[in-house]
Amino acid sequence: MEHNKTEQKKTGFASKLGFVLAAAGSAVGLGNIWRFPYLAAKYGGGIFLLVYLIATVTFGFALLVTEIAIGRRTGKSVGQAYTFMNKRFKWLGIIATAVPMIIFPYYCVIGGWVLKYLVCFVTFSGADAAADQYFSAFTANTWEPLLYLAIYVLLTSGVVMLGVQKGIEKISKILMPVLIVMTIAIAVYSLTIEGAMDGLKYYLLPDFSKFSFETVIAAIGQLFYSLSVAMGIMITYGSYMRKDANIETCTRQIEVFDTCVAFLSGLMIIPAVVAFSGGAENINAGPGLMFITLPKVFMAMPAGEIVGIAFFILVTLAALTSSISLMETIVAVIEEKFKIGRKKICTITALASIAVGMLSVLGYSIWSDFTILGKQILDFFDFVSNNLMLPVVAIGTCILVGYVVKTKFVEEEVELNGKFKAVGLYRVMVKFIAPALLAIVFLWSLFMPAL
Ligand code: PHE
Repeated sequence: MEHNKTEQKKTGFASKLGFVLAAAGSAVGLGNIWRFPYLAAKYGGGIFLLVYLIATVTFGFALLVTEIAIGRRTGKSVGQAYTFMNKRFKWLGIIATAVPMIIFPYYCVIGGWVLKYLVCFVTFSGADAAADQYFSAFTANTWEPLLYLAIYVLLTSGVVMLGVQKGIEKISKILMPVLIVMTIAIAVYSLTIEGAMDGLKYYLLPDFSKFSFETVIAAIGQLFYSLSVAMGIMITYGSYMRKDANIETCTRQIEVFDTCVAFLSGLMIIPAVVAFSGGAENINAGPGLMFITLPKVFMAMPAGEIVGIAFFILVTLAALTSSISLMETIVAVIEEKFKIGRKKICTITALASIAVGMLSVLGYSIWSDFTILGKQILDFFDFVSNNLMLPVVAIGTCILVGYVVKTKFVEEEVELNGKFKAVGLYRVMVKFIAPALLAIVFLWSLFMPAL
């Protein structure tokens, strides 16, 4: 395929910074703030950090560059980019399009929970949120979570409706700097509380006895999710990227942003939780950390109500910029296929997502006895999309780029703006290491789904 066959027809990001912040906004989300800290705590603290960092600059880098370059070179959404590259890979586009459609509704359900906690702290009812059973009572109720889901979806669609430049770029340029300042401020505060140093040591010092194969799998699984790769998002955002922006540099910046927020979230959460619960063993993994333990920790801290407000504003912003990217990916696919106006597509997508999200809401209330493969509905959606579909999309992408269109497809696009410095590393990653690691992660999550 001739390189000059590619086209750039859409209005995209007006600036390089806008692109980087929007992509970083997608990457920085609940995964950084809530999942990263407890995984780090569980898998040996410093050793997990080390493995994670190495994976980021090698494996994560290769996947991110690949998707951004595919997006910019084809100028298409994920629905058509793969088919455009090779007709036999149409199936990959179909799976990759389905992923954000599955994730978006339940991500918004969780976004709604965060909003509820924000409202609770802002109205100075943080003590209620810290009470036992508050979270289970809230989610067991059908109407309230549904209402928050609807509000959250409306907030997201409001931004997406305004378009890439006036909505997504503008809001990312405001929210991302606010987010980073707040993360630093809370982390610093959290380190000053009594007993924080034990937690800090636990978080940062490597415990080599905890190093295992599982540490590596957990780090790669987290990285994958955290960078928002393999769900079409970075292809879509790449298609809006300016031709004069350097893909390699932008990718590095996105990685630094994402990793810093994850690291700082650990500083913000682990020392405080360890100090509160009297030991690292007691850290509660899973949703309970954010919605059950942290409110208690805040209420036990001096000025905790204020910290709680700041924390839940932070989480709301991080979640919003991620759900915006998910919705934009869906909207871009529909826009390209059906050529209907953006406002209409956003309205339809929002309504459909509330309807699908309702299944997850009901899964915690009146349908709480109903499970699929032993999982509640929300967990089931999460498992299918993250553990099964994401690795398949990523492996398929590596095969397509590594062996079918060949890595030059990506390299030529990167080289439009100068030398591709890490090209050697890139080739080895895409052709051999990334698909092999991904296959291991995939098999592991099939047979050891507890991670
Ligand atoms: N990357 C986001 C995070 O770290 C998660 C995410 C998943 C965002 C799917 C968008 C889509 O939380």
